[in-house]
Amino acid sequence: MRHLLNPLDFSVEEISQLLDLASDIEHNLPKYAHVCDGKKLATLFYEPSTRTRLSFEAAMLNLGGNVLGFASADSSSAAKGESVADTIRIISCYADICAMRHPKEGAPLVASQFSSIPVINAGDGGHQHPTQTLTDLLTIRNLKGRLDNLTVGLCGDLKFGRTVHSLIEALVRYTGIRFVLISPQELRIPDYIRTDVLDKKQVEYKEVDNLDEAMPELDILYMTRVQKERFFNEEDYIRLKDSYILDRQKMKLAKKDMFVLHPLPRVNEISVEVDKDPRAAYFKQAQFGVYVRMALIMTLLEVEKPC
Ligand code: CP
Repeated sequence: MRHLLNPLDFSVEEISQLLDLASDIEHNLPKYAHVCDGKKLATLFYEPSTRTRLSFEAAMLNLGGNVLGFASADSSSAAKGESVADTIRIISCYADICAMRHPKEGAPLVASQFSSIPVINAGDGGHQHPTQTLTDLLTIRNLKGRLDNLTVGLCGDLKFGRTVHSLIEALVRYTGIRFVLISPQELRIPDYIRTDVLDKKQVEYKEVDNLDEAMPELDILYMTRVQKERFFNEEDYIRLKDSYILDRQKMKLAKKDMFVLHPLPRVNEISVEVDKDPRAAYFKQAQFGVYVRMALIMTLLEVEKPC
């Protein structure tokens, strides 16, 4: 039995196979309508979510399976003090696979140690968000035709943004990847990403605070929201929340074939006027999230690809 807790739980080869499967699903959706008949997905969400929870549910329904779960800690027995370990023991009796989002870093890892069904990390605190990363990789591969030889700008809250941490860990395994890390000083990437991932792998990167200057060299711009829920005081959040606002003027500085991604939700960091730009790929990215999660469920449940 396998879990997905970190993007590195799958090799580059396995990710390639999973993205191929997701692409086949995208183009042949009806073919997959019954591959998970009789299977159940539990969504255990201790933190708010729109895309991740509902795309997981849509994914399982598209595969012919069923879904059950809770959308907040308050509506589960966590509110009465039940541990993650006990909860997953129980869920293992009710479902075949589960996706867990939790505010505490490492909670899905703990769940995996007590689970008899595959556990998928659907976001743990400011740590990792591996299924968003699979979504991002599918989107980039689809738009650019490759996952190597790219200059990727990551902009916004690089300290608390778990999607950024997972994406960096995943992309450093491809050749010719350069990062431009665009953030205020206070929201720079955590030390463990800088030293244990970027420096260790000798990946080319620079840390800057000016988005305009970075724009012309980027192949991908990955915008992120300043993560209000991870701040210790509101004053700091208010000071930093509008550090970057991508608008039409800034888009004029970018290459014609640069694409803008964002894990969403957005707050102010991308002006709605950018939505009409053909390079704005964030809504398409959310759609890819369904296909990649369908592929992931099939992979972890060891479901055969239909002919
Ligand atoms: N991208 C993402 O994780 O969105 P949600 O928080 O809505 O799930």
